Amino acid sequence: MERIFKNKVALVTGAASGIGRACALKFAGFGANTVVVDASVEGSKETIRQIDELGGTGIFLQCDVGNPQAVESMMNKVMKSFGQLDFACNNAGIEGVRMPTAEYPLDSWNNVVYTNLTGVFLSMKAELQQMEEQGSGVIVNMSSILGKVGFANGSAEVATKHGVIGLTKTAALEYANKGIRVNAVCPGFIYTPMMARGGMDVESDLYQLVAGLHPLKRMGNPEEIANVVTWLCSNEASFITGEAVNVDGGYAAQ
Ligand code: NAI
Repeated sequence: MERIFKNKVALVTGAASGIGRACALKFAGFGANTVVVDASVEGSKETIRQIDELGGTGIFLQCDVGNPQAVESMMNKVMKSFGQLDFACNNAGIEGVRMPTAEYPLDSWNNVVYTNLTGVFLSMKAELQQMEEQGSGVIVNMSSILGKVGFANGSAEVATKHGVIGLTKTAALEYANKGIRVNAVCPGFIYTPMMARGGMDVESDLYQLVAGLHPLKRMGNPEEIANVVTWLCSNEASFITGEAVNVDGGYAAQ
């Protein structure tokens, strides 16, 4: 793998698992010093182990992205360790329960807003402050295809993922003249522990059903998302900002 991100620093939230881990491994494989940010210790240690195995450099910082003090302290540690922040992928997110809107429990709504929306907002705030000082940086927020279209029984996830695109476009406009690009990625259904939690294993009818929702007739894999996240951070995407890129096997084209 060409070390196109040598001497760069990349931060990925929710990097203990699934899409976030795949992004962290890709950044590290491209030579970036990679910061694995997550609330979960065990999964993060495994991500760091895999980065080491690749011959990359990674550190783990435990952080609940919905907590302002935790995010501030995390960013201070990034600066202490590396002195710069070039790329940030704000990926930590949860799905919430599946219920129709009239029955959707307020506590689940609040939890989803806390991580998916407040978490992305607080992470962006801290990252943008640093990037503005440097006069450079790229942010990629993890939205979802559910940030583009509705999904029955998923009001909190759908609302927050639409919100992430709004935050992305707004920051892209605010920081375009400061050397900072801000984009979002909108995955279709990707097979990760998030999906497995929903009772889906690859042999199940549910897997086939969800795979069949995509014109490409399969679910995506985390590496396919990481490819686009790292591409958006690279100079190959130097004229792209304020965009929300579907990586969805054609889901939203229907
Ligand atoms: P996952 O459940 O495998 O990983 C999510 C990670 O976020 C976990 O390591 C978890 O510990 C961490 N996390 C959750 N809340 C946190 C908090 N408050 N602070 C810090 N870390 C926290 O999920 P997956 O599937 O990898 O999803 C990653 C992102 O991609 C999420 O934002 C999700 O909404 C989005 N996405 C996933 C899709 C899928 O089909 N799996 C489809 C579209 C978007």
